[in-house]
Amino acid sequence: MYKIAVIPGDGTGPEVVREGLKVLRRAAERFDISFSFTEFDYGGERYLKTGEALPADAVDTLRGFDAIFLGAIGHPEVKPGVLETGILLRLRFELDQYINLRPVKLYPNVETPLANKGPEHIDFVVVRENTEDLYVGVGGFFKKGTPDEVAMQEMIATRKGVERCLRYAFELTRRRNREKKLTLCAKTNVLTYAHDLWWRAFNEIAPDYPDVKTDYAHVDATTMWMVKNPEWFDVIVTPNMFGDIITDLGAMIQGGMGVAAGGNINPEGVSMFEPIGGSAPKYTGKGIINPVAAILAGHMMLQVLGEQKAADAVERSVVAAIGRMKSMGAGQMGYSTSEIGDMIADGLDG
Ligand code: IPM
Ligand code: MN
Repeated sequence: MYKIAVIPGDGTGPEVVREGLKVLRRAAERFDISFSFTEFDYGGERYLKTGEALPADAVDTLRGFDAIFLGAIGHPEVKPGVLETGILLRLRFELDQYINLRPVKLYPNVETPLANKGPEHIDFVVVRENTEDLYVGVGGFFKKGTPDEVAMQEMIATRKGVERCLRYAFELTRRRNREKKLTLCAKTNVLTYAHDLWWRAFNEIAPDYPDVKTDYAHVDATTMWMVKNPEWFDVIVTPNMFGDIITDLGAMIQGGMGVAAGGNINPEGVSMFEPIGGSAPKYTGKGIINPVAAILAGHMMLQVLGEQKAADAVERSVVAAIGRMKSMGAGQMGYSTSEIGDMIADGLDG
């Protein structure tokens, strides 16, 4: 029995989570898995009512679950940063979800803005370090509010944090068993301390994985290759901030936020799965948002829980449903949010 914490969150989060759960429940029936889902109301609405982003016992409560299924965090009436740092980043950090796993995979019948590129060219995974770098919130102001103001924000790389992320990426590259090529994406020509550590660790660890080919690209060049030659990538490993940026580009080339899913993974602890599109306030409550990203987040959750057969079936059913959809954009799918959830759940019975 898997205990799953469900955080529908804000905006379209609850709508897409509903479809994700619909598919997970059906997968459970088909594949003899048992889930118990417990819902939590963390998000903007709760913050506006109570003044706290997360209740004091939230992190400890969540530690008692096997995984977390998250919709979206972000509310138009809450100052930017409050919910992001108070909920999303806090959970990533305190649950030590040190990997942010973001597959970039173009499914058949999904439109990509890249000319002359198809599913055979766009199929790689970004392993984004998820607990360090510019995200740690170390820094401060000096002479704030004066003409002499100075603001500092530190980029932190620890040997332990970098190494565990690199090892995860090497292992994943080996498991994917495609080209077995791992590309480090950094900026060693400028960030001569933090990324020197990444570079040295990468090269020191590589001999432990003789079957994995290693490659390196600066982050600016990475964005260029992702557009020009995405087929060059198998697995990319990168620090947190660069990973944030390149995975939005990745989401676009795989067909947009309607299909992009991610996992915040603690291989030894509680992981959290989410569609990476955000709360999309302008589409909220209309039943027009694309739930495929949330359903693929559920697919990734099944994979990480070790339920590979169920995960494969969900992916096949998603591919079949996508084959019938007009487009991946909100309101342009040719079906409502719940019709797509039904279609993918029913596809599991076939
Ligand atoms: C993401 C988001 C978050 C991030 C924000 C909302 C804090 O952009 O998951 O990529 O920067 O990590
Ligand atoms: Mn982002």
